[in-house]
Amino acid sequence: MKKILVIGASGQIGTDLTVELRKQFGAENVIASDIKNACEDVMQGGSFEILDVMDRKKISEIIDKYNITEIYHLAAILSGNAEKNPKWAWDINMDSLFNILELSREKKIQKIFWPSSMGAFGISTPAVNTPQLTIMEPSTVYGISKLAGERWCEYYHHKYGLDIRSLRYPGLISWKTEAGGGTTDYAVEIFYEAIRSGNYECFLSEDIALPMMYMDDAVKATIMLMEAPAEKIKVRSSYNLGGISFTPKEIENEIKKYIPELKVSYKPDFRQAIAESWPRSISDEAAQKDWGWKHEYGLPKMVQVMIENIGKRKC
Ligand code: NAD
Ligand code: SER
Repeated sequence: MKKILVIGASGQIGTDLTVELRKQFGAENVIASDIKNACEDVMQGGSFEILDVMDRKKISEIIDKYNITEIYHLAAILSGNAEKNPKWAWDINMDSLFNILELSREKKIQKIFWPSSMGAFGISTPAVNTPQLTIMEPSTVYGISKLAGERWCEYYHHKYGLDIRSLRYPGLISWKTEAGGGTTDYAVEIFYEAIRSGNYECFLSEDIALPMMYMDDAVKATIMLMEAPAEKIKVRSSYNLGGISFTPKEIENEIKKYIPELKVSYKPDFRQAIAESWPRSISDEAAQKDWGWKHEYGLPKMVQVMIENIGKRKC
């Protein structure tokens, strides 16, 4: 019997992923947890535990209490917030991963998911159609922690046989929760401000393209990867995930098809340098070949769904 623990279930990905996991595997089989309360959908849709992922003893108790067989470890400090307090972010991103790796080994957890990011790439990485295997010299504390995490995931797989799987998500766009302090957050905030005030000041320049993905695609890729037979998972560091690629100006123009009165100004801050160090577009050929990945949402469809749903947000 599959019993899943989601750590970081109150966040941008955790909210949508928890709801979908419960739909597919049964509400009673998916335990959500976070250091803070979640949306109504997550809190009322099944068991929820307040859990600090730095507290190894408490994680161990929860694994035993629910007979957990799979863990999705999503808790992390994202790129923008991490730059404001690098050592704190490093400790959370790395120590939490070690807690999960060690406990999974000890308690023979069958499968683990841990997300990496396009932030693991750096300025010396080929920026267009970035390949799976390439130069990786991240310049942010977030990227360094993701690259180090990837190496540790592969190490635990080879050394201890841990079935840990990972995706390098691009920037994710969704409407159920606000984004969690990253460099790609502008592409979520712009929708909220378009509806709320009709004005948005973007913290990136209008012409910086970044790889992005609508949340439904990201959730689908995550569950597909986790449900794929182990022999199909050839990459044990982290799979590239490409999605779509657009600039702030391009998303502004697409939103204006629905809200023509939207006014966007551009005032790049410290996150511009982070964005410039990341790829413009990413190749996810390895994911396509190994476990059949294909994204569904392009920019027009994603904007349409966001506009239709953004007003329904409950948290
Ligand atoms: P988020 O900030 O929205 O959510 C993270 C959640 O972790 C929050 O609910 C937070 O309360 C929780 N958390 C923080 N510290 C914790 C602790 N000590 N104990 C327990 N919970 C704690 O982030 P997200 O966007 O949902 O990202 C989830 C994962 O996906 C992260 O590892 C992130 O690096 C990765 N990722 C996200 C994106 C994106 O665009 N959202 C892109 C690439 C990778
Ligand atoms: N969306 C994330 C961030 O900007 C990318 O990992 O931090």
